[in-house]
Amino acid sequence: RKPVTVPRFFSAKAEGRKLAVLTAYDALTAQLFESAGVDALLVGDTVGVIVQGHDTTLPVTVDQMVYHTAAVVRGRDAGGGRALVIADLPFLSYQTGIADAVRNAGRMLKETGCGAVKLEGGGSDHAETIAAIVTAGVPVMAHIGLKPQSVHVVGGHRVQRDTEALVADAVGAEAAGAFAIVLELMHGDAAKAVTEAVGIPTIGIGAGPHCDGQVLVGADMLGMNPGFAPKFLKRYADLAGVMTEAASAYCDEVRDGRYPTAEHTHG
Ligand code: KIV
Ligand code: NA
Repeated sequence: RKPVTVPRFFSAKAEGRKLAVLTAYDALTAQLFESAGVDALLVGDTVGVIVQGHDTTLPVTVDQMVYHTAAVVRGRDAGGGRALVIADLPFLSYQTGIADAVRNAGRMLKETGCGAVKLEGGGSDHAETIAAIVTAGVPVMAHIGLKPQSVHVVGGHRVQRDTEALVADAVGAEAAGAFAIVLELMHGDAAKAVTEAVGIPTIGIGAGPHCDGQVLVGADMLGMNPGFAPKFLKRYADLAGVMTEAASAYCDEVRDGRYPTAEHTHG
């Protein structure tokens, strides 16, 4: 089980091996997903929604991303150390200038031990930024289609369908040096065209079956979040049910004296 490196992302596409990616924000979840064999762990800025309870990803800070990414790297190492850990660059950490972008991307590698960063954008909006970060030695994953950090400009979570623009954005991201591209919430035909147009792997979420890999938010895929039910999401477990039933059984047993008993007691 060799570690997943950036060159292994390229060979996976060349050899037709699909890449399985999940988000994680804490050490224990990262360890479990690593043990399950994921190729990469994305420390998404969805931490702002899933962990922090915000409505959008916008409030997440670089310091928070450093904290969560370091925890995920430790969990990945405890679980076997194979998956590539990719840290999201949060809102306002790369949009304010190239020097800021390089410094914040560099902080992720330097302070957490992760192997790459992701920013929201591609060749059409962030080509220079991607190139500068890669030149500094930090692999960059691009992210095109729906970009949640731009929610206030876009006006909501709309399915993207402009194939020509998406292909140009992806081709530009590859030319700038990105090692992979997330394709979020777009028509399946558009994702297929993008995937065929670039030599770097495309990692889809809400982009259909023709990408080179897939990413889902771990908590969504585990069914922890029953209120979130987009068309693209498949739930592989009902953790909301399991967790609620377990916590409710615990409350009942504590209240009526069935837990703890002699078997849980020292002396
Ligand atoms: O923040 C995140 O979790 C992401 C994925 C959904 C791609 O960017
Ligand atoms: Na993100």
